[in-house]
Amino acid sequence: MRRLCVALDTHLEEALKLVELLKGYPLIYKIGYKLFVSHGVEVIRKVRDIDYSAELFLDLKLHDIPNTVRNGVLSATTLGVDYLTLHTLGGSEMIKRASEVKGNIKLLGVTLLTSHNEEYLNEMGISLSKEELVLRLAQIGLENGCDGLVCSAHEVAFLKEKLGNFIAVVPGIRPYKVEGDDQKRTALPEEAVERGADIIVVGRPILKAQEPRKVVEDILKRIDR
Ligand code: C5P
Repeated sequence: MRRLCVALDTHLEEALKLVELLKGYPLIYKIGYKLFVSHGVEVIRKVRDIDYSAELFLDLKLHDIPNTVRNGVLSATTLGVDYLTLHTLGGSEMIKRASEVKGNIKLLGVTLLTSHNEEYLNEMGISLSKEELVLRLAQIGLENGCDGLVCSAHEVAFLKEKLGNFIAVVPGIRPYKVEGDDQKRTALPEEAVERGADIIVVGRPILKAQEPRKVVEDILKRIDR
């Protein structure tokens, strides 16, 4: 399995330039709202045209009534993407219906977002702790057909210990420690992999690097065990 996922959180021109530059490395590209809402299928086709061997991760975090999400997943199967996210908060029926039509797509469940703090739980009237809720959502995801979960480097070992193996996709990775990062709890690539990450997601440290190839090479070396 490919272990490094580059988050293409930028505009189309810059994203395609980066894909061209990184051609040849075994990478997954994450396409999220910014690119997909503006360019839709075109962005997928263009990335594929540049690097046919790249894997594609469509980060749409689907969450709706079961039938609507099922239809969304079915449409995604025609795009040739490899990974697709949905919110486990959508519940077991939604996830089950999605997984029935996923074909070759690996469905990744999102549990609580990092922006969700205890205050959010209070606001929603949820009496579980954050950890309890993440575990519950993760379990609902895996029991109903998710192939993996998006989780933090701080949760991954705990979740694998409790729930067994799954594809653990871990963002919030920083190859080098930096001051004033907006990602509050980061981990080094090798730390995340040691704790059980199967795929690490790195955005800005690669997007904003002077020499993105060097950063990618360095990360690949450090997670190659
Ligand atoms: O630029 P950076 O490496 O922080 O990008 C991380 C990517 O992972 C972004 O696309 C962000 O949306 C995503 N992500 C995250 N934290 C989560 C879930 C997803 O940073 N809890």
